Amino acid sequence: MVTGGSGFIGSAVIRSLVAEQYAQIVNIDILTYAGNEATLLNEACYPGYKHEKADIRDAQAMRRLIKKYQPDAIMHLAAESHVDRSIDGPGEFISTNIQGTYNLLEAVRTEDDRRLALTDQSWRRVRFHHISTDEVYGTLGASGYFHEESPYQPNSPYSASKAASDHLVRAWAETFGTDTVVSNCSNNYGPYQYPEKLIPVVIHRALAEDVIPVYGKGDNIRDWLFVDDHATALIEVMGRGESGRTYNIGGDSERTNLEVVETICRVLDDIAPRGNGTYSDLITFVQDRPGHDFRYAIDADRIKTELGWRPQERFETGIRRTIEWYLANQDWVNVVGGAHSAKKRQGLGGSE
Ligand code: NAD
Ligand code: DAU
Repeated sequence: MVTGGSGFIGSAVIRSLVAEQYAQIVNIDILTYAGNEATLLNEACYPGYKHEKADIRDAQAMRRLIKKYQPDAIMHLAAESHVDRSIDGPGEFISTNIQGTYNLLEAVRTEDDRRLALTDQSWRRVRFHHISTDEVYGTLGASGYFHEESPYQPNSPYSASKAASDHLVRAWAETFGTDTVVSNCSNNYGPYQYPEKLIPVVIHRALAEDVIPVYGKGDNIRDWLFVDDHATALIEVMGRGESGRTYNIGGDSERTNLEVVETICRVLDDIAPRGNGTYSDLITFVQDRPGHDFRYAIDADRIKTELGWRPQERFETGIRRTIEWYLANQDWVNVVGGAHSAKKRQGLGGSE
């Protein structure tokens, strides 16, 4: 069972599960602005695939679906995921990311109790894989890395809501014996990312000959991971991770935002040149994000040594693949309504 399977990372996970021919894959996704059926058109034909359009904030629905499907494992990705939106309207982040995770944990506990009451000696708990972010650890200076024991210091409503949900998962494992694994990952990029995050926004605006907005001075640093590498890591953690353990996942690809934007402009100059000038002429420095974390960087040693996972895609080739995908899939961008989002500056505050 995958929650949030119609979003960016969840859909990459479902594509991988289908490719690995998992017998039964249930996607629980209410289809918010960030989720769309157009993202899983091919996978929807897979015989073992089922989409349940349900809200993780609905406790009864979560209990019903878990009882109905009796999953071996739940990969929990459904969330409000965009930092800028959490600045403009934190409420949905609290209800979906915290209450939604609580509902799932309670539904899992009910299902575990039901299995325990059966006479069958071979019963197994539901494995609950909570997919989280490196942003729970706060921000780094110019040096150092986040590791699994780094203190939690979330700075945005989004990261605070994810941190809260991580704590709930830990407590359910310690107190109720729920079989949990947690993974905290760095910035993902690749196909099917909703065009409100940096990389798809830059591609979209460049192609539209619009200004390319860089927050502050563009010197903030992120560690970029190609989404299919994340999906592979998640399937490893779900299948082989040690119960109760956290795994950090990163791309070994730190870049300043300006470096990322300039790289995209260079690739576009190469494959879709402008009539006049270079795409980098469109770069514009704009007002910074409030509470903008300076740097994220992941020490992924644990997942590398314990589970043998490594990122396969280099940033230079991954970003080119991503740009080529967006050029070839403008229909998808139009279907999900990304043109409107990519044009809109979010995250400067204001109340709900
Ligand atoms: P996304 O915003 O693209 O997709 C989220 C999905 O969850 C959407 O399909 C949406 O419809 C669904 N959803 C939202 N609220 C729901 C609800 N109440 N009930 C049911 N479904 C709901 O997000 P993403 O970028 O794919 O991120 C997935 C997960 O990975 C999130 O938990 C996020 O915190 C985490 N994460 C993301 C990144 C990243 O760089 N994007 C990095 C690390 C961790
Ligand atoms: O680190 C993992 C996190 O990465 C995930 O948990 C989040 O779900 C995901 O959205 C992402 O968060 P960021 O805030 O780092 O991603 P975003 O794409 O919004 O911004 C990346 C950087 O680019 C950040 O420093 C802000 C900057 N930025 C962003 C946008 C949208 C710009 O300079 N201009 C922009 O238009």
